[in-house]
Amino acid sequence: MKDISIGIIGGGLMGREMASAFARWCALADMPVRPVLRAVADLNPDTLAWFERIPGCDLRVTDFQKLLSDPGIDVVYVAVPHDLHENIYLDVLAAGKDLLAEKPFGIDLASARRIRDAASASGRFVRCSSEMPFFPGGQRAFEIARGGSLGRVLEVVSGFHHSSDLDPDKVANWKRFRRTCGEGGVLNDLGMHSCHLPLRLGWKPSRLFSQLQKGYPERPDGRGGRTACDTWDNALIHGWTVIGGQDVPLRLEMKRLAPGATNTWYIEILGTDGGVRFSTAEPKTLWLFERGKEQWWKRTELGFSTAFKTVTGGIFEPGFPDVIQQMWAAYLLEREGELDGRFGCATPDEAVATHEIFAAALASHASQKVVAL
Ligand SMILES: NC(=O)c1ccc[n+]([C@@H]2O[C@H](COP(=O)([O-])OP(=O)(O)OC[C@H]3O[C@@H](n4cnc5c(N)ncnc54)[C@H](O)[C@@H]3O)[C@@H](O)[C@H]2O)c1
Repeated sequence: MKDISIGIIGGGLMGREMASAFARWCALADMPVRPVLRAVADLNPDTLAWFERIPGCDLRVTDFQKLLSDPGIDVVYVAVPHDLHENIYLDVLAAGKDLLAEKPFGIDLASARRIRDAASASGRFVRCSSEMPFFPGGQRAFEIARGGSLGRVLEVVSGFHHSSDLDPDKVANWKRFRRTCGEGGVLNDLGMHSCHLPLRLGWKPSRLFSQLQKGYPERPDGRGGRTACDTWDNALIHGWTVIGGQDVPLRLEMKRLAPGATNTWYIEILGTDGGVRFSTAEPKTLWLFERGKEQWWKRTELGFSTAFKTVTGGIFEPGFPDVIQQMWAAYLLEREGELDGRFGCATPDEAVATHEIFAAALASHASQKVVAL
């Protein structure tokens, strides 16, 4: 195995998730590359202290420039609030490092375009984090849709729901403020998850109407007081896309206020001859529609049939940490030129396309009109 030295900027929720995916890299079979976490940068000393448990992660700094000036680091993963994306991503590229960026890839469309342009000018390998399509059910839905066996596609629904924001006592963090999460709010937060598979299939909306909703106008600030919260929390996008020369309804859903849901990512593609439905609420289950003399919804348990093989038995069920690791396998193999036709991570162009959808959704909600892209 060839070692790839990784640095993480932002060791919060996602930074630690990535560190744990590297730590159990032995789960992957036949992998020619291995990520080795060498450095982490975070403003919070307690967060840096957590990384002491990772053998070899010896550079733990509050100033991310020190991480970038280490010539031994090959790839940098950045997981910081959205208002910091552009400056840090551009600094990573200027330092000559490859980048796995976090979504939404800049705080707004203009920022995403500047990052995309800098990435292509730099020649570095840049992708954007989006792990949910790496669930075996997501991969299968993609293959079925791409294979063309569904007949004329009638409808596509793709979404991401969670419910932790239903708790009015949840302390406000940076995701609750426009200045740090962005004007898009939940679009920025969850939109890549909803858009990634449709975009990979070439199904970008050509026009859309959106409905955006806010949640609680204020929350505890974590210091004994209250603070105003001003982001959109739920977004419904009703779009039209063109599939096989026909206009097809495409609904994209992003909700932080979805009663009962915990990180539920789902996709449903219905056609005249067949259909496919997958939700992480049933992580090993795929539903397939068949039209014959009678009509059937067939349920199959996919088990652990991931794109990148692991030591985990095929009868077991996959989860979030598994698809994070699968995404890293895709990133590192594509970087080596060894993806071999398998599903790759979201590209800078796809990230920009998500922002084009979000910008149109914001414009539609503001005008209460259908907006063309
Ligand atoms: N792919 C996914 O499923 C997924 C899930 C959650 C969040 N995210 C994305 O990950 C990113 C981070 O989100 P999170 O939930 O991990 O946030 P978080 O608040 O848990 O962590 C962010 C970290 O960045 C650190 N930080 C802030 N400014 C910094 C700076 N100048 N230098 C170094 N560190 C700094 C903070 O101290 C914190 O530890 C966002 O872009 C978010 O959209 C992705």
